[in-house]
Amino acid sequence: MTTTTTAVIDLDLPGATISRHVYGHFAEHLGRCIYGGFWVGEDSPVANVRGIRSDVVEALRAISIPNLRWPGGCFADDYHWRDGIGPRESRPRMVNSHWGDVVEDNAFGTHEFMDLCELLGADPYVSGNVGSGSVAEMSDWVEYLTRADDSPMAALRRANGREKPWRVPFWGLGNEAWGCGGNLRAEQFASLARQYATYCRNHGGNLLYRIAAGANEADLHWTETLMRSFDDLAADPAGSAGPFQAVSLHYYTMAGSWSDKGDATGFSTDEWYVTMARARRMEELLTRHSTVMDRYDPHRKVGLVVDEWGTWWNVEKGTNPGFLYQQNTLRDALVASVHLDAFHRHAERVVMANIAQTVNVLQAMILTDPDTGALVLTPTYHVFAMNTGHHDAAALAVHLRDVETRAVDATELPLVSASASVKGDTALVSLSNLDAETDRTLVLDLRGRDVVGHTARVLTATALDAHNSPEQLDAVAPTDHAGVGPHPRGLEVDLPAHSYVTVALELR
Ligand code: AHR
Repeated sequence: MTTTTTAVIDLDLPGATISRHVYGHFAEHLGRCIYGGFWVGEDSPVANVRGIRSDVVEALRAISIPNLRWPGGCFADDYHWRDGIGPRESRPRMVNSHWGDVVEDNAFGTHEFMDLCELLGADPYVSGNVGSGSVAEMSDWVEYLTRADDSPMAALRRANGREKPWRVPFWGLGNEAWGCGGNLRAEQFASLARQYATYCRNHGGNLLYRIAAGANEADLHWTETLMRSFDDLAADPAGSAGPFQAVSLHYYTMAGSWSDKGDATGFSTDEWYVTMARARRMEELLTRHSTVMDRYDPHRKVGLVVDEWGTWWNVEKGTNPGFLYQQNTLRDALVASVHLDAFHRHAERVVMANIAQTVNVLQAMILTDPDTGALVLTPTYHVFAMNTGHHDAAALAVHLRDVETRAVDATELPLVSASASVKGDTALVSLSNLDAETDRTLVLDLRGRDVVGHTARVLTATALDAHNSPEQLDAVAPTDHAGVGPHPRGLEVDLPAHSYVTVALELR
């Protein structure tokens, strides 16, 4: 018999704002993410606007995509932006040595990316090349994108057809500098980050939020070294951090090891639980990195940006191993909900996050069929869709009582994950039942404000590895959830085994 879990929520005690940017995305020149995913070219039979797939844009607009990180990833530190401007037919080619060793023709470059962001209504997050680039090259790119007058780079942009500067709020200083981004030591990179940040200038009214390539998983030394390199953070509580403003963190979830990560489908129940326990690790990582950051930055001026997260499985059989194409199941959806809960809880420090990656790579929102061009929305997409109410809402603490746990490896995995937020007269509660086998009931003990109405949605399926395909587009799709009823302390919610439920509350 299962116990009834209770979630106590004080609806009148709003906390930090959950930035919509934690619902950010990532598009790398990797496999079929850019080419075939976002970009089909103007002559494609697939409906497009100036070469960009219309159905992909529409699907991402529907989940209010707040920002898009580009061009990498590891690719960013091999990328020289001048190769991706000017007439397409005369752009130089390069080898994409990280991802499949294929030849990249630079058809998708700066103008195409900025056009994509404008179509999406998303803020661009450009990842600059520290590993194999130069300070001058990065500085020129910022000038090219954001300067209004007749400076050399602004004039070059105009010559390439764009009169007005773009707005670029987010700027990455390198990527995984401890690995593919140069194999640097933390101390070495911290100096470079200061130097590069200095020359990434604010032109006109464009204020850059500079994000230094941060730690891998639990590498606290990397975070500590970057935090030490800031100018005095304790001095002026109202001042901003400099010369850069944020540090990043990367963490991927898998059921196995880097050499055998586990398959995206056909996995065992044990693998389900191992995956959930590893997804829960994001909570621990945020706590540990934030603790280090708090020591140097008591006023929380420096942002933590989780600009790569998600599942990483063995590639689908018969696909190019360098293209990182994987199926996306109900398990991926629950991994996403667990991460998003953690980001909500850490809203005061986590200012942005980017799931890897948006189309056809790793934990994608969207899969496209290489032969027919058909578009498939994944279960992960639906979690993002169900959570749009959390964008820029105030986090609410959720106190869970009587949560059953399960021993997984050396940890105890709580079988329910939850988070909540409030915005004006509406609140949204997110509930994940991580139990592969058992339905449960949860009591929402709602305090502080009157609840005058509710609606609920549920995402689940019979099989743990249920997924969508061109033949079955809605095998895993949210439906209205009838399993919510009154309870003396608020509401009683049925949580089917392996399900994700959102409850929207109308408040007075
Ligand atoms: O997302 C795939 C790759 O994972 C990125 O290019 C890199 O930053 C990370 O190792």
